Amino acid sequence: MISNTTKEEFFSTNKNFDQLYPPPIRRLSNLHWTPIEVAQKAAHFLAATPGASILDIGSGVGKFCLNAGYYSAECNFFGVEQRSSLVAIANQVQQQLGITNASFIHGNFTQLDFSAFDHFYFYNPFYENLVDESLHIDDSIAHSESLYDYYATNLYTLLATRPPGTRLATYQSSHTRIPSSYQLVSTDVDTLFSCWIKIT
Ligand SMILES: C[S@@+](CC[C@H](N)C(=O)[O-])C[C@H]1O[C@@H](n2cnc3c(N)ncnc32)[C@H](O)[C@@H]1O
Repeated sequence: MISNTTKEEFFSTNKNFDQLYPPPIRRLSNLHWTPIEVAQKAAHFLAATPGASILDIGSGVGKFCLNAGYYSAECNFFGVEQRSSLVAIANQVQQQLGITNASFIHGNFTQLDFSAFDHFYFYNPFYENLVDESLHIDDSIAHSESLYDYYATNLYTLLATRPPGTRLATYQSSHTRIPSSYQLVSTDVDTLFSCWIKIT
């Protein structure tokens, strides 16, 4: 585990944080991993209730959960990720940083019981299904437009059945796929980052 001083340095800039990852993962950061300033804003919004459990849907190498866990020590952050290689990297960096309120689950979000979580975050997790293979994280999983629709529809239903008061933060994600029971309460980062609260 690293010292507190060094830990602060890692959390001080996006570039420093990315140094925690192996070079091939670091190179994907601009396109695929949440910038630390967005993670900080999302954590601030989602951690409104102390003790809350917050799920990152498609957690990649854990950049959101690890930053959110660092900034909001009173909540627990969980990530679900379909690629086992990314979960392994997230676990490794979590150990290195000694962040104890973040954990990672290997699997597909469609298999998770959403009632175990209070609030949710996602960074356009299904978009990879719509773009050229040069923009894919890797070729370890299948990609298709029908998968995009399947996942987006599934997530819509899961979010629609959460109780009023559920908070949702989204980054670079389509507003049209958010159930109308969620009210948009703020946007930031050139409207790329959005905060929602379920009202009915
Ligand atoms: C744009 S990345 C965001 C990673 C992370 N949330 C972050 O912000 O740093 C989206 C991630 O979602 C994962 N993903 C996509 N569909 C998924 C699914 N059905 N179940 C679990 N993970 C999924 C991808 O493998 C990818 O790692």
